[in-house]
This record gives sequence, structure tokens and C-alpha cells, in this order.
Amino acid sequence: MTRSLRIVITAGPTREPIDPVRFLSNYSSGYMGACLAEESLRRGHRVTVISGPGSEALPSRARVVPVEQARDMETALRREARRADVVIMAAAVADFRPAAIQPVKRPRRGRLTLSLRATPDIIGRLPRRSGQIRVGFALETGKTAVQRAARKLRDKQLDLVLAQRASTARPPFGRQAVRAWVLERGGSAEPLGIASKAKVARVLLDKIEALWYRQPEPLTSGHVAKT
Ligand code: CTP
Repeated sequence: MTRSLRIVITAGPTREPIDPVRFLSNYSSGYMGACLAEESLRRGHRVTVISGPGSEALPSRARVVPVEQARDMETALRREARRADVVIMAAAVADFRPAAIQPVKRPRRGRLTLSLRATPDIIGRLPRRSGQIRVGFALETGKTAVQRAARKLRDKQLDLVLAQRASTARPPFGRQAVRAWVLERGGSAEPLGIASKAKVARVLLDKIEALWYRQPEPLTSGHVAKT
């Protein structure tokens, strides 16, 4: 008998506040995360989505943990990942945040220089859990997209990476299809061509299930037989 997996998905952008009314963010809509949640639920898995402020609706059967900043997403993921069989890091985490949040709205006058700090690598520094499957995304531009994605797979100790090559002609956000490859630890990059995000979700769930059902039984309590 197979059992359903507990899957935690991060989705959407993060917002990094500048002052009480302004923030830094990116164009992520959360659609990739929504497709992953939908596909996971369709297969009978239990889904928690840690969701930044995207514009796409999430399936009503998913448990949703709303977050705003990268640091809130990290706190929520550390808590939720303790009980997860699979972590899928599909969020477009803002790479930089203002070094200090201004307590008052600065008037529009003259010139403003922001000092930025890199946000923490949330998936890279998530404490390891035996048997847990980790999936990341790598959004790249240019000809070395796949090599750069392979380096992220190694550096962040991931099991799978979905690499996307974006260009100004093919922006990666929203419901557009993406040029994608799927990379597996110890394997070669499998090209998916230009694929819809629903297809990317199906391919990733196929790979996740194949990895899970062939790995040895985890020693943690509360798990039932996977065969
Ligand atoms: N990621 C993360 N924490 C961050 C930034 C990214 O956990 N602060 C995750 C993303 O959700 C994705 C993976 O790491 O699953 C790769 O994200 P990407 O933006 O491609 O790479 P970065 O690690 O930000 O590296 P770089 O900006 O140098 O490309």
C-alpha cells in the first residue's frame, strides 16, 4: 500500500519593506506553486503552501500559511518542514532586502540611496532531515543556465532542480510556458523544451514519487509502510 506524502511548497514572491508603505519585490505570481499544489492534491498527497503575496489563487484543499518577508518564509518553512516528506522551494524569494526598515514614510524629495543586504538562503540552510526530498528551482539567463542550476543543486544539497532559462522574449512569470530542464542528483539534465507550468508540476511529482517509493523506510516514528 502506498501512503500519501506530506508536501510543503513555498510559492510566490516575498516583499522586503523599505518603510511603512514601500517594499522591494519581484514579478512572481505564485502560479508555479499553485500548479504544484493542485497536482500534489490530485495525487492524494497532503499539501501545505507557504505563500508569499502572489496574485494566483491556491487550491482550497491546500493548507495555506501566508507570509510576507523572506525571514517570515524561513521561520514558517523551518516549522513546517519538520513534519514534511517533501519540500518544494518554488518561491521567488527576494534576493535583497533593505539593510534597515525606515520607521516613517520618507517624502519624495531629492534622491534616495538604499543600502541592501542579501536575504538568507532559505533552502540552503534548512536543517537536513533524513529521507526528506528537497526540490529547488533555478531561474537563469544565458547559455550557462543548466551548469549554474547544477551548481545550485550541489551547493544547496537538493535532490531535484527545475532549471528555467528566461529572456526578455520569454519572461518566466505568470502563466507563460517556460524553457525548462529537470536535474536529478547524480543524473544528467533532462530537457523539457518549452513546457507549461502544469506540465512542469506533473514531471516533478513523477520524479518525487519515484524517488520516495524507492528510498529505504525512514526510521522516524509515525510513518507507515511505503510499499
Ligand atoms: N532560494 C532560497 N532563498 C533565497 C533565494 C533563493 O531558498 N534567499 C531558493 C529558491 O526558492 C530556489 C533556489 O533557492 O528554489 C534557487 O534560487 P535562485 O534565485 O535561482 O538562486 P539564488 O540562490 O538566489 O542564487 P543567485 O541569485 O546567485 O542566482
